[in-house]
Amino acid sequence: MKGTLLTALASVILAFSLVFCWGECWAAGSAEEPKKILVVYFSHSGNTREVAERIHEKVGGDIFALTVKNPYPADYKKCTEVAKAEQQSNARPQLAEDVPNMASYDVVFVGYPNWWGTLPMALFTFFEKYDFSGKTIIPFCTHGGSRFGRSVQDIAKLSPKATILDGFETSGSRVKNSQNDILAWLGKIGIP
Ligand SMILES: Cc1cc2nc3c(=O)[nH]c(=O)nc-3n(C[C@H](O)[C@H](O)[C@H](O)COP(=O)(O)O)c2cc1C
Repeated sequence: MKGTLLTALASVILAFSLVFCWGECWAAGSAEEPKKILVVYFSHSGNTREVAERIHEKVGGDIFALTVKNPYPADYKKCTEVAKAEQQSNARPQLAEDVPNMASYDVVFVGYPNWWGTLPMALFTFFEKYDFSGKTIIPFCTHGGSRFGRSVQDIAKLSPKATILDGFETSGSRVKNSQNDILAWLGKIGIP
């Protein structure tokens, strides 16, 4: 009787261990680690910030606003002049703050206004500062009519070892009505 009970108990323990171990091994072997997402953006007059916040609402993860040590003039014309001079001198404006734990992100949405046909020079600083090898970059851009300009080609040159997905662009004047366009774009690039 005692022997039978012991055998039954041992069988139960063995079966339980097998099931538990199989479950663990399966989880470790095939379950994908969730991707860590960052929405990072630079915005001078607020359009790109608005798009960034909408994307962040949909995709979650963290959001970070890039700012520069020497802020650009609030006046539009003066800002265009400073930005033009920076582009002509291939400047690298200093960023005011580091992105916390940049290395930990897998997918980085990067937003910016089109400035003189491409990225503001502060974005060149940003792309050169961090290693994007193996990461997925998803650009988004607001503009006054020139769409991405040559910014996506510039991102590809700055981050040759990253995967760059199709980005989102909208003119500054359409930002307020961009909700559905953003949703459609996220669906198209396969972001839940
Ligand atoms: C310095 C500067 C340069 C700009 N250059 C361009 C340009 O080359 N092409 C364009 O379509 N819009 C240009 N714009 C317009 C901005 O891209 C547009 O207003 C954008 O939505 C501003 O985004 P923000 O509000 O996030 O700063 C420029 C604006 C500034 C301030």
